[in-house]
Amino acid sequence: MNVTRTPAFRHRHLLDIDGLSAAEIGALLDLADFYVDLGRRADKKINRLRGRTLVNLFFESSTRTRTSFELAGKRLGADVINMSVEGSSIKKGETLIDTAMTLNAMQPDVMVVRHSDSGAVELLSQKVDGAVINAGDGSHAHPTQALLDAVTIRRRGKRLSGLVVAICGDILHSRVARSNIMLLTTMGAVVRVVAPPTLLPTAVERLGVEVHHDMRKGLKDVDIVMMLRLQLERMHGAFVPSIREYFHFYGLDREKLSLAKEDALIMHPGPMNRGVEIDSEVADDINRSVIREQVEIGVGVRMACLDALVNHTLEIPVEKAA
Ligand code: CP
Repeated sequence: MNVTRTPAFRHRHLLDIDGLSAAEIGALLDLADFYVDLGRRADKKINRLRGRTLVNLFFESSTRTRTSFELAGKRLGADVINMSVEGSSIKKGETLIDTAMTLNAMQPDVMVVRHSDSGAVELLSQKVDGAVINAGDGSHAHPTQALLDAVTIRRRGKRLSGLVVAICGDILHSRVARSNIMLLTTMGAVVRVVAPPTLLPTAVERLGVEVHHDMRKGLKDVDIVMMLRLQLERMHGAFVPSIREYFHFYGLDREKLSLAKEDALIMHPGPMNRGVEIDSEVADDINRSVIREQVEIGVGVRMACLDALVNHTLEIPVEKAA
C-alpha cells in the first residue's frame, strides 16, 4: 500500500476535540471521507489494523457508537472484543481501574470507552498502555460524534468556516454539544446555543457561542439545525415544566424550521425522542434531514480515528491495483 502524503498524528489518545488543531481536524475529516467512500463499495475491508486488537468497553448503553466502532475495527482487519458490563466482573464489584488494568494485561492496541462519569475515560487512559478513544464520558465529551457531524456537513457541500450552526435543546447534559462547539468554533463556524436557561451550563458564552432562549430567533437564517435529546436520565429534578410545553417552545417542527435558511440541514446525534425535541415530519424529511447519513458516516469516521491512532498518521491510503 502506498500513500499520497504523510501528515503525522502524534496523539496517544483521542479524549476530546480540544487537543486537536484545525489542520489535524481537517486532515482527519479528509481521511474519514476516504473511509466513508470505502464503506460504499462492495468490498469494505482494508488491512490497516491487521493483527491489532480493539476492545469496546461500554459502561453506558449505546447503539450507534458501539456498533460503528465494532464495524470500523473489523473493516480495518482488527480483532474486536465487545466487553459487556452486564456479564463482567464489574457486577461483582471490580472497579473501573481494575477492569481497565485486567484488560490491559491482554495487550489491546486500542480501548474504546464510554462511561457515565465525566473524566472517567481520561483517568482510565492514564493506566493503560494502548490508545484510548473516548466514546462519551458523562456530559463532558464525545469527540467522534463531533467529527462525524462535521464530515456529514462537509459532504453536503457546506464549508465549516463561516457556517452558522444552531445547537438546540439540552445543552447542559450534552457531551455532543460540548465537542461540537469545540470543533465548529475551531474550524471557524459561528455557533448558537438555543435552550431554556435551565438547560444551559453557567457561563456557556465563554465557550465562544451566541446564546438564545427564543428558538425562533435562534434559528433565524442558520445553515444547520442540530437538535439534542432531552437527557432525562441525567436530570435530578425538574428542568422543564412539562414535555408538552418543552415541545411547544423548543421542539423542532415545520413552522420553526421555516425560519432557518431554505437549504438548512437537520441533524440529531440520536437516539431521538420524537415529539419531545423533534417532530417526526422534520426528522424524516428526506430533503433536509441527514440523521441517517450521520449514522452511516460514523463508521468511516471511527475507521479514520482508529487508523490515525494506531498508525500515527493521517495519510490517506492508496490501494495498489490488483
Ligand atoms: N450518538 C450516540 O452516541 O448514539 P449511541 O448512544 O446510540 O451510541
